[in-house]
This record gives sequence, C-alpha cells and structure tokens, in this order.
Amino acid sequence: MTEDQDRDSQPVIMPHSYDGIQEYDQSLPNWWLFTLFGSMAFAFLYWMACFVTETAADDRVTLNAELDALEARQLAAVKNLDDATLWKMSRNTQTVAEGQAVYNSLCFTCHAPNLAGIKGLGFRLNDDLWVHGNTPTAIFNNISEGITFEGKPTGMAAQKVLGTGRIAAVTAFLLSTQKEGSMKTALRKDEPSQLNP
Ligand code: HEC
Repeated sequence: MTEDQDRDSQPVIMPHSYDGIQEYDQSLPNWWLFTLFGSMAFAFLYWMACFVTETAADDRVTLNAELDALEARQLAAVKNLDDATLWKMSRNTQTVAEGQAVYNSLCFTCHAPNLAGIKGLGFRLNDDLWVHGNTPTAIFNNISEGITFEGKPTGMAAQKVLGTGRIAAVTAFLLSTQKEGSMKTALRKDEPSQLNP
C-alpha cells in the first residue's frame, strides 16, 4: 500500500469472515520487515563466522587465555619457589611458552631442539630419568647453579643471569613433558642419551 492510498482510503477489509471475525488487508510495515530480514541476515552471518569459518574469536578461548595470563603473573610473583608451584607453572600455557622460548634460544644447542639430548653434549631432558635430581626444585637449581661432577664443572654452566623468572619458566617447560610423581633417578653412567648405541 502506498502513502497516497494510505492517506486517501480506510484499510481494506478482506472478504472472508470466520465466526464473525474479519481481517484487514494491510501490508506489513517496512520497519517490521527490515527487522525480520535483518535478523535473518545477522543470524546467517553469525552462524558462518562462529561455526563454519570460525573466524570470530571464541569467547571461551579468549577467556582461558586471559585466565592463564593472570595465573602466570600470580605464579611469577611467588617468592619461595617450591615443587608445587613449579608443577603449577608447568600446566600454565603462557609460562610454558615463555620457557620454551628460553629453551629455543639457549638450551637446544646441547640438549637438541626436541629435548632428546645430543651424545657427548647434553643429556636427554624429555624422558623420566634424571641424573642430578628428580624434583622440580632440583632441576631449577641445576639450571640456575650449573652442574659439577666429582668437583669438576660439566658442560652444564650456571644460567643464573637469566633471572629467577626465566629459569622457573624453562623449568616449567621441561616439566610440561613429565608426569608428576613418575620422575625417576638414573646414574650418570647410565644416562641413556650418552650411552654407546
Ligand atoms: C654447553 C652445553 C649445554 C647447554 C647450552 C645447556 N646444557 Fe644442560 N646440560 C649439559 C650437560 C653436559 C649436562 C650433563 C651434566 C653432566 O655431565 O652430568 C646437562 C644437564 C642438564 C640438566 C640435568 C639433567 C639430569 O638428568 O639431571 C638439566 C635440567 C639441564 N641441563 C637443563 C638445561 C637448560 C634448561 C638449558 C638452557 C637454559 C641448558 N641445560 C643448557 C649441557 C648444556
């Protein structure tokens, strides 16, 4: 119905009548149609972005990342690092990522990029066998202070200059390959990555 008709005429009444009830013959208002088709288009685009192409940020992913960052900051502020805190750090993706970055810049040359160790250079770090202490704090101290054997320094030099935060992070990265409660001790002469094949 155009605006002219609107002004000139009364609404047309449909010819049928049911139980005495009659019906106007009116077109739906444009604002109403706009809302209807607009919400359909929005629903389609929303569905595409969230469930088909998945280009829209997932709220749960964003929230988890923020909670992780918050926990990482809280853990980094802990003054007395103990085993429990280091295990917690090893389950925090941000701390582990920070530790992995340290590993990839400093440690991979002797311990191999995949932590498998390099014969004659550095021990394997991703198996459950530990020569110089099988607890998170022992690993932290080995990295921080370096390792001596029978009074002589080994290839593992002190990394104190990294600072507590980054040493804790790289410890957390190593621990992320371990299972709590199943880290075993091994004799230095039995370290698998250093044995002859
Ligand atoms: C110059 C080579 C070298 C570099 C670089 C190096 N390490 Fe080592 N690392 C060694 C050697 C060699 C040993 C074994 C010590 C020994 O001979 O008993 C070792 C041992 C260790 C151990 C003890 C393993 C065990 O079984 O108890 C840890 C943990 C470790 N390194 C972590 C690191 C981390 C983390 C970094 C980087 C910040 C790093 N290392 C950098 C050579 C290196």
